[in-house]
Amino acid sequence: MPIKKIVGLTLFIQLLFCCQKTNDVRLNSYVIPLPQSQILNEGQFKLDGSTTINFPDEFNISGNFLKNFIAKGSVLKNEDNANIEFILDPNIKNSEGYSLEITANKIKIKATSDQGAFYAVQTLRQLMPSDLEKGGANVEPIKIPCQIIEDYPRFKYRGMHLDVGRHMYSVAFIKKYIDALAMLKMNTFHWHLTEDQGWRIEIKTYPKLNEIAAFRNETLIGHYSDQPHQFDGQRYGGYYSQEEVKEIVAYALKRHVTIIPEIEMPGHSQAAISAYPELGCTGRQVDVATKWGVFEHIYCSKEQTFEFLEAVLDEVIALFPSEYIHIGGDEAPKTNWKACSECQKRIRSEGLKDEHELQNYFISRIESYLNSKGRQIIGWDEILEGGLAPNATVMSWRGMNGAIEAAKKKHQVIMTPTSHCYFDYYQSDNENEPLAIGGFLPLEKVYHFNPIPEELNQEESKYVLGAQGNIWTEYMPTDAKVEYMAFPRILAMCEVLWSNEDQKNYSHFVERLENFHERLEALNINYANHLYEVEGHLVSTQDGVFYKLETLTKNKDIRFSTDGTEPTFESSLYDEQIWIDSDTDIRAAVFKKEKKLGATFEQNINFHKAVGQKIKLNVEPHSAYSGSGKNGLINGIVGSDNRYGDKEWLGFWGDDLRITIDFEDDIEVTSIKTRFHNGQGQWIYAPKEIIIEFITEDQVISKLIKINAGESIIANINEEFEKIRAKTIIFKIPNFGIIPEKRQGAGNKAWTFIDEISIN
Ligand code: ACM
Ligand code: ZN
Repeated sequence: MPIKKIVGLTLFIQLLFCCQKTNDVRLNSYVIPLPQSQILNEGQFKLDGSTTINFPDEFNISGNFLKNFIAKGSVLKNEDNANIEFILDPNIKNSEGYSLEITANKIKIKATSDQGAFYAVQTLRQLMPSDLEKGGANVEPIKIPCQIIEDYPRFKYRGMHLDVGRHMYSVAFIKKYIDALAMLKMNTFHWHLTEDQGWRIEIKTYPKLNEIAAFRNETLIGHYSDQPHQFDGQRYGGYYSQEEVKEIVAYALKRHVTIIPEIEMPGHSQAAISAYPELGCTGRQVDVATKWGVFEHIYCSKEQTFEFLEAVLDEVIALFPSEYIHIGGDEAPKTNWKACSECQKRIRSEGLKDEHELQNYFISRIESYLNSKGRQIIGWDEILEGGLAPNATVMSWRGMNGAIEAAKKKHQVIMTPTSHCYFDYYQSDNENEPLAIGGFLPLEKVYHFNPIPEELNQEESKYVLGAQGNIWTEYMPTDAKVEYMAFPRILAMCEVLWSNEDQKNYSHFVERLENFHERLEALNINYANHLYEVEGHLVSTQDGVFYKLETLTKNKDIRFSTDGTEPTFESSLYDEQIWIDSDTDIRAAVFKKEKKLGATFEQNINFHKAVGQKIKLNVEPHSAYSGSGKNGLINGIVGSDNRYGDKEWLGFWGDDLRITIDFEDDIEVTSIKTRFHNGQGQWIYAPKEIIIEFITEDQVISKLIKINAGESIIANINEEFEKIRAKTIIFKIPNFGIIPEKRQGAGNKAWTFIDEISIN
């Protein structure tokens, strides 16, 4: 029989004043992630010194969490018939589901598991003033709007990842991160513990992992694409002791967060090989990596490696109770395996076709070891190459294809495509953003992510367990930077994973997010705020070309200038689209009455001859990088230098492109400019050449342009001509081809990213 616990909240008398800032019932009922069903009623529950809580032993974690949240240090008081009651209700079918019924006299939480009740508590927490997050409490009664919530998650895997190899963070920060996950009803923390740049978990059998592999001599300064590379000259490193790991695992358990540790193999293992060179193919002494990328020093497939990895995994599974262990599997160049007699012997003795099958041998062997210990493996989608280990779960990061293939093979999948889940990408096209790896993943794109790929039927979709946001930390040396990159995108991701697809509404989410800022501030989380930025886009109509401005949140004004001056409260109020018939410099900002809120938006429109004309493509851009569509190539606006995923760039994966621009009448062309992205670390390669055809009724003139982008991140095309007449201009752009050996993504098709085509 459950033992009743009754808590009297007597602390209200003694504590500091802090009152709820708003009485708007609607605002006070905002919850992220959005519950499946939420019905607001008249009236309020008043929580004060006389309120009591009652929870059975089964709800020990959730009950105590609520008790502590409301009343830190309060005195226990026994009393029957508590006002806040937790009830074990077998009618609730989903073990993570709950119901929360708030009437004027009573709050009832029903669930079948502590985890479900815990999520009810997280919802109730968001219905209470954010000041409580600071650990204080009210002298005023807390007013909670009456309502009935029935709730359960859409997906059972709701995760966030954190790479502690490139940079590492304190135990206190890891706990803070786990706290945030729990608040947002995320149930998995994928802890990426080993990297080329550092080994971060204490392994007692192999002490050099901590003495040597945990420290690098120095770290790259600035962005990888800045040449020449410069280093800070500072030794960097550390690791989590087994005692610390135990403490963190126990902490997460109390918040219903499962930690999945990742031990990378066979690639991303240069740090381990620096400590134990005999684990590599060459036996050569290498250093712990000091810059980012993909490295050739991977584990050799000899017996000694398996002895090592099994010993490491024995210690790992003793620390982590999770069903799943992540074994990496990504980005393992096969160069050393090809030249290694041990690896070649293994290929022959096991009857393998090539090094890809050797990778499959490697992963399958580790899988069967972990299966024998009652654990399952997760691997990045490269584990599909050369055959899939029999029971593996695939984490699909290079787009959705890995997920589609795995689900069709009846393997479980977790979605983390770079296009929607890589929170190391830029989140704003504001040029003042802090340094990031590249790419562009704004909040809205995360929000609109659907983890179920269209290509899967209903049966196959069941293999999609869920998704997670990834935080790769090359450019995140501090806690504050991790928070900036994670928040608010994590809030969008939690809603992707919890709420139903047909309930999602971005503008409603934004309203709730704006309201949530206060809670993030109370939690001292360094979130990014791009809600008060201006968005603009060009529209072509029969009446001409116009520019439209928008902002996300309600009850704000946009003020703008077109004369190059900073927008102020005195500037024109934006109330209709701006007519564009020449080069225009638009500057705009969001105002709440006189107060300017966000950063100034600046857009230069280059009104060249192709703006507003007709454009055709032979293939659609990739769905993840379709920008503002084909017209974005001739809208007078260039994209960002380092954010190839912004709305001005179009991305194509492996396609040969043919772009046709038709003019109303013959024009005379004297110059053509365009740009290709060449971010090779992200598998983006400028083409080697393009052909431009100028077509009129009576002639076709063809120009071949050779491109040699080298290592530069952008390839600029800037061609001048003696006047060439054209009614139609065709651009033939062959894809770069297969990514060469020793490069990131070697063996895969290259991407082509093209920006504005400016014709004068
Ligand atoms: C990855 O981003 N290399 C999984
Ligand atoms: Zn080898």
